[in-house]
Amino acid sequence: MSVVHVSASKPYDIYINEYRLDEVGRLCATMPRVDKAFIVSDSNVAPLYLDRVGESVRSSGLAWDSFVFPAGERSKTLETYGRLLVAMAEAGCTRDSLVVALGGGVTGDIAGFAAATYMRGCACIQVPTSLLACVDSSVGGKTAVDLPLGKNLVGAFFQPDAVVIDTSVLATLEPHFFTDGCAEVIKYGVIADAGLFDMIQQPLSLQDPRLEQVIFRCVQVKRDVVEADEQERGLRQTLNFGHTLGHSIESLSHFGVTHGFAVGCGMALMARGCQRLGICDPSDASRLIGVLASYGFDVEASWPPEQLYSAALQDKKRHGSVMNVVAMEGIGKVRIDALPLEQFKQLVERSV
Ligand code: GLY
Repeated sequence: MSVVHVSASKPYDIYINEYRLDEVGRLCATMPRVDKAFIVSDSNVAPLYLDRVGESVRSSGLAWDSFVFPAGERSKTLETYGRLLVAMAEAGCTRDSLVVALGGGVTGDIAGFAAATYMRGCACIQVPTSLLACVDSSVGGKTAVDLPLGKNLVGAFFQPDAVVIDTSVLATLEPHFFTDGCAEVIKYGVIADAGLFDMIQQPLSLQDPRLEQVIFRCVQVKRDVVEADEQERGLRQTLNFGHTLGHSIESLSHFGVTHGFAVGCGMALMARGCQRLGICDPSDASRLIGVLASYGFDVEASWPPEQLYSAALQDKKRHGSVMNVVAMEGIGKVRIDALPLEQFKQLVERSV
């Protein structure tokens, strides 16, 4: 059990195994001025946990309503977001209502964005149920939906009021989605914590006794980064290591490749490109590529570099004719390079 405090523009706590899912209501009841809870979940998670969380809210004396949408990145649209806002209005939610995001990254993003904008903002608790959401997307206040042209193009920075991580829910994850989240864990090791990278070199498994400690360390890295740069002007960009080409892979596969698998491949490509450009030592690049392969991530691209490059041009990390790229200098050390597009293209060509 542990608590990580985040001193962001809105301070909050991340509770790791301090509350089980059936105790979320107890936490809701401690929040000031809450008139009701509105639980947002998807069609995979709701059948497993919605009633459990709803019952805990009810038994703490609060009314609750819910909105459930079809699971998957394809639901992360303005249309789903609009339906969610209408459902909140129809349920009589006010500025004092509390949005509970119960699910993985897509749920956290849509529910968080609804909380950021409904009546110009109401409170929100993130209750992540995927490894990816536990270590990354539930923390730090990024909320968004996608547009047909690209991921996360509409959204807001909106810090939650609390994050409740109950690691026992990870045991029910499909192995594919567990591995998907491991990509972000490996990322934290590469960008900031070589000791964490050593710890997870031996692949993590469902019900792994290392999980709580691993999540704690990832969340600490994320907390430190968010406290230093909440609005992603500089340091926070390092959290995007592997993500630019990862987003290309997601988009070229029409989201058939899930986020973590795309980022896993994106990290392998960046490691290879950085090694070939002399930015990182070959032994570090092959260590990362070997660990990614041992988790089951593709370490070779299935698309030619021209297509990866073209898809990357839609990325938010492009600023006019410059792409901000997170380059790997070694395990535990990255840097941000603002590359003119021609140089970024060369990096992509060298990465495959
Ligand atoms: N997932 C990257 C970030 O929160 O900045």
